[in-house]
Amino acid sequence: MQETLKKLQEEALQKIEVASDLKELNDVRVAYLGKKGPITEVLRGMGKLSAEERPKMGALANEVRAAIGGSIEKKQAQLEEAAVAAKLAKEKIDVTLPGYTVKAGNPHPLTKIIEEIEDLFIGMGYEVAEGPEVEQDYYNFEALNLPKGHPARDMQDSFYITEETLMRTHTSPVQVRTMLNHDGKGPVKIICPGKVYRRDNDDATHSHQFMQIEGLVVDKNIAMSDLSGTLEVFAKKMFGEDRMIRLRPSFFPFTEPSVEVDISCKICAGKGCNVCKGTGYIEVLGAGMVHPNVLKMAGFDPEVYSGFAFGMGVERIAMLKYGIDDIRHFYSNDIRFLKQFDRYEGQ
Ligand code: PHE
Repeated sequence: MQETLKKLQEEALQKIEVASDLKELNDVRVAYLGKKGPITEVLRGMGKLSAEERPKMGALANEVRAAIGGSIEKKQAQLEEAAVAAKLAKEKIDVTLPGYTVKAGNPHPLTKIIEEIEDLFIGMGYEVAEGPEVEQDYYNFEALNLPKGHPARDMQDSFYITEETLMRTHTSPVQVRTMLNHDGKGPVKIICPGKVYRRDNDDATHSHQFMQIEGLVVDKNIAMSDLSGTLEVFAKKMFGEDRMIRLRPSFFPFTEPSVEVDISCKICAGKGCNVCKGTGYIEVLGAGMVHPNVLKMAGFDPEVYSGFAFGMGVERIAMLKYGIDDIRHFYSNDIRFLKQFDRYEGQ
């Protein structure tokens, strides 16, 4: 019996030795240490032994069990370790390999121009203001010195929604809304970007929806020279330090006097070429001194306060700055066009 036990131990240890995975090892455990295993079988025959031999055999059987059990445990630890090592080796990543670049896209050229102009004016102490695109006739026209039936309303063909509401035709109603919020007290210094709508047929230079940026300054002692100085800074920052501006008399019902502002042509530096149609200058925006009626209707005393305002088309600025020849490019969303305006590239 002793020999049988020893032989079983040897056999089992050998099988443990060669077990190549956890499943095989478990099979050995079940086979040798399980209830139906050979050791249990041997112990069953102990009844036939003498009282003297019995405890000896019992002790030996326990030793054999312990030896097999211990060996299985050791082997199991080894196999587990090997499994982890194999997994690590398989899943190894080389952190020094170059990564994939995530394409983040780029801002729309109009967004880029608006952000640039906002930054420029914020730097001069302006705040950004906004107003609704569906506007009341009162703010869009009436409070801007354009009563119903005024012929100058024809300058801006409009999309009416009801008799009293329309898609705003310019950003000037934001002037009125902002002034009303100031309770007749200056200073007011705002810049307002936004979409505007006009009943125009779309072509290379017209779009029924486009973007404007409005500027408004109201305070004591604001003069025309403040307007021209401000616009000169704008022209130089947007188009280059060597640009000059030129003011031409014009008409807007909400400003008096009114001017059309030109910037010297980048191509010929004012000499005249086919981009500026021989004039040396390119028209970029409308401006003027806020009309006393407009100040009055917005709660400001025109005897105490004066102001200037200007309004420009963002597409026009972008077209001049980037040399774009058709306004429809901004709205057709052709990726080849849009891709050219990276936020981080030089302006
Ligand atoms: N609102 C005018 C337009 O759309 C532009 C403008 C704004 C002119 C402010 C003068 C002062 O044509």
